Amino acid sequence: MCGIVGYIGGKEKKELVLNALGELEYRGYDSAGIAVMKEGRIDAFKATGKLKNLQEKTKNFTSEGDGIAIGHTRWATHGKPTEINAHPHFGQHSYIVHNGIIENYREIKEMLTSKGVTFLSQTDTEVVVYLFEHNLQTSKSAFEAFEKTVLSLRGAYAILLITTIAPNSIFFAKNAAPLIIGKNDEKELFFGSSDAPLIGHAKEVCYLEDGQYGVLSKNEILLFADKKKVSSIFRDLPQDKSYAQKEGFRFFMEKEIYEQSRVLGETLMGRIKNNEIVLEELDEYLFDGINSIKICACGTSYHAGLAAGYIFERLAKIRTDVVIASEFRYKEPLLTPDTLFIVISQSGETADTLEALKIAKNAGLKTLAICNVDNSSIVRLADNTILTRAGIEKGVASTKAFATQVATLWLLSIFMAQKRNSVGKERLKSEIDTLLRIPSSLNVDNATHEKLRRLSKRYLHGHGFFFIGRDIFYPLALEGALKLKEISYLHAEGYPAGEMKHGPIALVDSKLFTVALLPKTMLYDKTKNNIEELSARDATILVISPEQFELADDFIKTKNSSHVMNEFFEMMIILQLLALEIAVRLGNDVDMPRNLAKSVTVE
Ligand code: G6P
Repeated sequence: MCGIVGYIGGKEKKELVLNALGELEYRGYDSAGIAVMKEGRIDAFKATGKLKNLQEKTKNFTSEGDGIAIGHTRWATHGKPTEINAHPHFGQHSYIVHNGIIENYREIKEMLTSKGVTFLSQTDTEVVVYLFEHNLQTSKSAFEAFEKTVLSLRGAYAILLITTIAPNSIFFAKNAAPLIIGKNDEKELFFGSSDAPLIGHAKEVCYLEDGQYGVLSKNEILLFADKKKVSSIFRDLPQDKSYAQKEGFRFFMEKEIYEQSRVLGETLMGRIKNNEIVLEELDEYLFDGINSIKICACGTSYHAGLAAGYIFERLAKIRTDVVIASEFRYKEPLLTPDTLFIVISQSGETADTLEALKIAKNAGLKTLAICNVDNSSIVRLADNTILTRAGIEKGVASTKAFATQVATLWLLSIFMAQKRNSVGKERLKSEIDTLLRIPSSLNVDNATHEKLRRLSKRYLHGHGFFFIGRDIFYPLALEGALKLKEISYLHAEGYPAGEMKHGPIALVDSKLFTVALLPKTMLYDKTKNNIEELSARDATILVISPEQFELADDFIKTKNSSHVMNEFFEMMIILQLLALEIAVRLGNDVDMPRNLAKSVTVE
């Protein structure tokens, strides 16, 4: 998804901004651009494809000395990923970069077109820079023109604008898309659409609020909301950059799969005391008057939500509904105050999830975010948050974020069970004991990884995959299929094992690959029957199970079948590694798959 960076200071600006954009690469993008202003002159460059194309284009350009710069990585929404549609967009004197979507851009475009403006690109962003220049004609200052412009925009935006009319300043605005200002002791100032490009440069950061806008110059930060000056609040920025290295792994995704054991330890840290779950971050009265739960999320986070649906009902005995956020938003949902609204998001910036949260808040529901990124928009909006503590996840295909989400939701369900006395003491104790042992059971088994690497060569051709499982292994099957789709570009579907006979079984032949999750602790015989039905019709079947299965074409033996969640996490790792190894064999860019973005901040 789009990324924004900005800089005011004396360093080589081109290098600094390109490096900062590099920190945002993992989010996914299809073109990039920068604009540098020095001594009242602006030089701008854009290129489609990866950042190295932009580096090549700017290799003879230098920008030492005091000045300002803005940069952008674009993930196409309005208009194809062409160079013309790449940011920065420009008018006569000004350049702009923008994340988000301007909803009223058509009206603005029509108004400007009637005044003789011609547009080069198909983007919504270009209208903003022309509107600013149009407003300049009737304003006393560039700031007044910028303020007028921002106040007439509808939609989501993080904007940086530079203009030769007010050199040495960066105008900025934020609404429903993240934007952060950073500063350091050398009097340098930075912008970023997330923390990552600011680490190592900025010492303190200010997370802008929706509706805030202003202007930044070397000596001053002017911040406004609704035409009134507001003060900027800065806090220290942690400087941990270790996430940036692959630590010997071929891909960030692989590193993140191997990291899961460690990060799950972080998820649990301080949250289990004297055989009890303690969630100090939650409001003491959060569950008072609550009779049901609604979970909203997208993508992998939605799968974690589906898994939670099973655990919540089983352990906490509380009615739970799980809805895809983009579906929830427009279905005119009936919301009652006895429902706790939970959103799950790795990034905390997913537009659909954020909007669903706003709807629930406006309806007066209590809200809880399960999120990986502190200070993200979702965390700031929700009444309560449990951070999943996965650390920065760079692979676009989510792995450790999913593991920590499921673990956090399991933790939460035990916490609710404690409060609601919904299961006996023995059961609670066994859940907590298992939870405590989960990090060690998440260590990747080298022999299994090697087996999956060898096996992957048999699964490159065929006419599609079905991942099947029952109960909580159904959302895991969905997640396994999503992982494979995301990075291998092969068609894969997750399906409830018991539902195959109601339609999909018609597709079965020897070129249909079925990945079957056959846990010992959950509906073993029923699932086995379903797999046999497929085997009888000659499907090619890879079975993952602790029990040998004679009819399987391929078999991966799992080790730990003492508790359903042990089986869940062990199988999760196998599915992640299977997707990884197939994608590697196909020669794909595992960390930055085509067309995908790490954090989708548009609807
Ligand atoms: C994008 C990503 C997915 C992710 C989904 C939800 O589509 O490509 O990997 O699962 O967004 O993201 P979130 O940050 O809200 O968990």
